Amino acid sequence: HAYVIIMAGGIGSRFWPVSRADKPKQFLDILNTGKTLIQHTYDRFLRFMRPENILVITHHQYVPLVKEQLPDLPEENILAEPSRKNTAPCIAYASFRIHKQDPHANLLFAPADHLILEETSFTKTCLEAFQFVNGRDALLTFGIKPTRPDTGYGYIQYEPQKNIDHIFKVKTFTEKPDLELAKTFLKSGDFLWNAGIFAWDVRKILEAFQRLQPEMYELFSAASEAMLTPEEPEVMEMTYAQCTNISIDYAIMEKAENVYVIPSDFGWSDLGTWNSAYENMPRDYLENAVAARDVLIVDATRCMVHSSGQRLLVLQGLDDFIVVDTPDVLLICKKDHEQEIKEYVAEVKRNI
Ligand code: GDD
Ligand code: MG
Repeated sequence: HAYVIIMAGGIGSRFWPVSRADKPKQFLDILNTGKTLIQHTYDRFLRFMRPENILVITHHQYVPLVKEQLPDLPEENILAEPSRKNTAPCIAYASFRIHKQDPHANLLFAPADHLILEETSFTKTCLEAFQFVNGRDALLTFGIKPTRPDTGYGYIQYEPQKNIDHIFKVKTFTEKPDLELAKTFLKSGDFLWNAGIFAWDVRKILEAFQRLQPEMYELFSAASEAMLTPEEPEVMEMTYAQCTNISIDYAIMEKAENVYVIPSDFGWSDLGTWNSAYENMPRDYLENAVAARDVLIVDATRCMVHSSGQRLLVLQGLDDFIVVDTPDVLLICKKDHEQEIKEYVAEVKRNI
């Protein structure tokens, strides 16, 4: 059987001050579309999966938000993590749990907070991915043609000659390289960005954990006894307290030998920052992207404006700014300084 697991435990700090630890970006309608990012993600999978085969794994703090935003998702399909340990433990937990019920399952893990414009093409790629990993010794990742030397992504070097129906064997996987290396990768041509969407046979990912993260494997393997029993929350609490904080990219994908990539082209954006939101929103004739009701703009250009709507905003003479208004924080930041937003969050937390 096929399952989709939506990973929704991140905190999205670069979308501060709208994205907060108590309500991160996957639970927000960042682009002003009428649906939150996790609702879009869920609906995208509903095109070809039944709700019973879709799971959401998240920090326990967000379980009420998931229930509220995805009322059709069966409650038992929400996995609560007791603490934030990044995506490797999240994937180990979900995989062991599904394996216990269905040892031949094929799994597709996806982030909750991405933008995908071409849903039909996305469906087609997911179905090809499921078909490819079925019964094959393969860890499959979705690859995106890179457009800039972004250091926030994983870079996949594939072997153009080695392919099965246009799915390529991966030579190297480099998570978040520095700028120099990213530039080299971009120039060389046979690199793709890792979209962070993965597919595999559940047995193959468990084997990979056993080989490459033996300690984590042992922890979750022991915990799997208690999975789907009343002891599960208590046992997971102890398991998470003991396990390392590491992403699947560093823990498994960089190290594994059996990695494949499916080049994908479905209008993907990771919506990581305000600038990427800006790039993906409709804009007015002065190139401003406005996600707010009450705004008056007087010759401001190329601004990203977001307001929670508590008061009227008037902008005059601003070019290339991010303006984000919330009940307790107003952010005004030059667009080309947005990488610093993470630092302001840290600073604010220290001082208030
Ligand atoms: N359940 C759970 N628990 N989910 C988590 C956790 C966790 O501890 N940490 C992160 N997530 C979720 C996030 O909410 C997001 O949907 C997804 O897992 C990926 O985590 P990010 O923190 O956004 O990862 P990243 O953007 O730095 O890097 C990953 O994605 C890039 C593409 O967007 C990597 O896979 C990169 O290689 C990739 O290029
Ligand atoms: Mg991300």
